[in-house]
Amino acid sequence: MKKAPTKILKNNGKDFEIPCIGLGTFGSDKFSPEQVANAVKGAAIYGYRLFDCASVYGNEDVIGKVFADVVNEGIAKREELVITSKVWNDMHGRGDILLSCAKSLKDLRLDYIDIYFVHWPFPNYHAPGCDADSRNPDSRPFFTDEFMACWRQTERLYDMGLARSIGMSNMTIPKLEAVLPQCRIKPMVIEIELHPAFQQEELYNYCISKGIQPIGYCPIGSPNRPERDKTPEDIAATELPEVVEIANAHNIHPALVCLKWAVQRGHIPIPFSVNNYKSNLDCVLPGAPGGDPLTSEEMAEIKKADKKCRLVKGHVFLWEGASDWRALWDENGKIPGWKE
Ligand SMILES: NC(=O)c1ccc[n+]([C@@H]2O[C@H](COP(=O)([O-])OP(=O)(O)OC[C@H]3O[C@@H](n4cnc5c(N)ncnc54)[C@H](OP(=O)(O)O)[C@@H]3O)[C@@H](O)[C@H]2O)c1
Repeated sequence: MKKAPTKILKNNGKDFEIPCIGLGTFGSDKFSPEQVANAVKGAAIYGYRLFDCASVYGNEDVIGKVFADVVNEGIAKREELVITSKVWNDMHGRGDILLSCAKSLKDLRLDYIDIYFVHWPFPNYHAPGCDADSRNPDSRPFFTDEFMACWRQTERLYDMGLARSIGMSNMTIPKLEAVLPQCRIKPMVIEIELHPAFQQEELYNYCISKGIQPIGYCPIGSPNRPERDKTPEDIAATELPEVVEIANAHNIHPALVCLKWAVQRGHIPIPFSVNNYKSNLDCVLPGAPGGDPLTSEEMAEIKKADKKCRLVKGHVFLWEGASDWRALWDENGKIPGWKE
């Protein structure tokens, strides 16, 4: 059986082995839980060991049956699997994170989750599938104390052994600067948007300097993301001329160039796929079909191709009076309405 190469992270002082590529499980409103679960099973049989789940993806209960089968049928031992889940924004309140984690554990049929993320750094809730222009009147800017109250609950999950490690997602440098000094348990990983058209060089380097491993979501540029998340300015990573040229030189799909770039750069891509998960794993396995690495010149070409083009803008999390979606990402280096 094939096996993705792994790397060793430091998890509150202890070693934590993690594959260098995983499988995303967000069906983007287009793929049913059963279709996603079938891909999870096929991917596990093919050699994937890292699976990125979340309560808001609405499919953990169906995927959980697959995880039970994977272990019971001897496809993988439980301790070989790295399974993530995430608390959704409407469950940040006191005691709610424990409830949310317990629900995910039950649905996923697990005794512990390997990485438990705070999905977004604020409790701004929107109904699943709502329009990008809709605003929840209860939405508010990031507030350090509010986030830390949420993180303290996540630290307790770690203390109780319900989460083997904990992580943050959709953070910025100003927000990390505000919260990291207060964390008793540091995040082992951070999950952020990363692809050749959105490389987030500064945030990436910042996380590495703090010993936090970046995991890259939308590594292929999420071509099947919900229509409401698309805007005319969006640039597709797989259509960047540099990526296309390199793909032609290797005789592979541009999506595979994006994944090779991610792994060779050092972050962990979690591509979603129901059709191409085999070639996605092969492309980062030296010796497998299409597994030859990018040259340093090709890596340099892709580095220059960055368009700083964020695809997951988060419009629906904006509060009344916010300028536009850039306010969510502290683009002028400051947290809007920041309170100490
Ligand atoms: N933390 C967060 O806030 C957050 C946000 C967004 C996403 N995520 C996570 O990141 C995962 C990945 O992001 P994503 O699903 O939005 O986008 P993505 O992985 O960039 O793109 C997935 C799409 O690419 C296609 N694809 C995959 N491999 C391909 C290949 N070799 N050739 C051609 N097409 C290929 C897939 O189609 P096929 O199925 O046909 O292969 C699928 O439609 C999600 O599933 C989720 O787990 C997390």
